[in-house]
Amino acid sequence: MTYRVVTVFGGSGFIGRHLVRRLAKRGWRVRIAARNPNDALFLKTAGAVGQIVPTFANIRDDHSVAAAVAGADHVVNLVGILYESGRQTFGAVHHEAAGRIARAAAAAGASRMIQISAIGAAPESRSRYARSKAAGERAVLEAFPDATILRPSIVFGPEDGFFNLFAAVARLSPFLPLIGGGRTRFQPVYVGDLAEATLACLDREDSKGRTYELGGPSVYTFRQLMELLLKTIGRERALVTVPWTIAGLQAMFLGLLPKPLLTRDQLAQLKSDNVVAEGALTLADLGIEPTAAEMIVPTYLDRFRIGGRFADRRVAE
Ligand SMILES: NC(=O)c1ccc[n+]([C@@H]2O[C@H](COP(=O)([O-])OP(=O)(O)OC[C@H]3O[C@@H](n4cnc5c(N)ncnc54)[C@H](OP(=O)(O)O)[C@@H]3O)[C@@H](O)[C@H]2O)c1
Repeated sequence: MTYRVVTVFGGSGFIGRHLVRRLAKRGWRVRIAARNPNDALFLKTAGAVGQIVPTFANIRDDHSVAAAVAGADHVVNLVGILYESGRQTFGAVHHEAAGRIARAAAAAGASRMIQISAIGAAPESRSRYARSKAAGERAVLEAFPDATILRPSIVFGPEDGFFNLFAAVARLSPFLPLIGGGRTRFQPVYVGDLAEATLACLDREDSKGRTYELGGPSVYTFRQLMELLLKTIGRERALVTVPWTIAGLQAMFLGLLPKPLLTRDQLAQLKSDNVVAEGALTLADLGIEPTAAEMIVPTYLDRFRIGGRFADRRVAE
């Protein structure tokens, strides 16, 4: 059997692992390009022997990127960071490295490239994260004009960094913070739908050179998302408004932690709604019906429920 080869940068991350499993199920040979290939070894069992191959690549380095895309039919770039650390700056990772991958993919003769960006990516954004994502989109399209850009809102699903994080906070803390009153709007999209959208784009000629904004079926304020979370895990917690100025001061200190819980740039992002723009191409244009958060979130937050199957009994209720 001949497999088509797809290289997935960031394939060991949250979205990447869902995509890799689906690619393998559809018969692709998947090369997971990661800084620490050992972190991706667990995914090998999702395919036949030799079908999923973790390989070393640091996307800040020309040689390892070129080696990772050599012979690939398609390339997907999922690498992204939420905060800067050392040489992992927004500019280096979201902008320069995205362009590097696109140039390498074009040079290697790949026929498709999918770049995972984010809703809110815009050169005029007040967030450096969002500006670097926009610069990355431009760099990708310059080198690979047929590339498809996917911009998701918050992504949810097993092992996500959003509901799992706030559920963990709710287990320990008597309150949950609502920055600026929690009025920012989001349109969370299911990780499975994002993975299916990526697969659809790899197959569909009409997605070449296009940008899609991916959101779920409903828009929620941040407050509504916290209410949904608390209802799901069956806990009552106070929702406490944190004014923007106080949150700014907190971010100044929390942003100094090695793995910052809140940065000033994240605050800047929170000041804009994170929903699909009017007139944008969406999941529907790829033939995908979005999955509701209410359907999926309860399936993976059980351990945060009081008496849930894997509840941590050491935590006083
Ligand atoms: N999750 C969301 O809600 C969401 C929403 C909108 C957009 N997105 C975008 O979707 C993409 C994937 O997000 P995610 O949630 O799956 O992120 P994630 O779990 O943090 O995964 C990111 C991946 O990038 C890899 N990576 C980081 N720096 C690298 C480098 N220099 N060279 C090679 N690999 C590197 C990480 O591997 P290491 O272990 O080596 O660090 C990890 O595998 C990102 O571009 C993100 O901006 C995500």
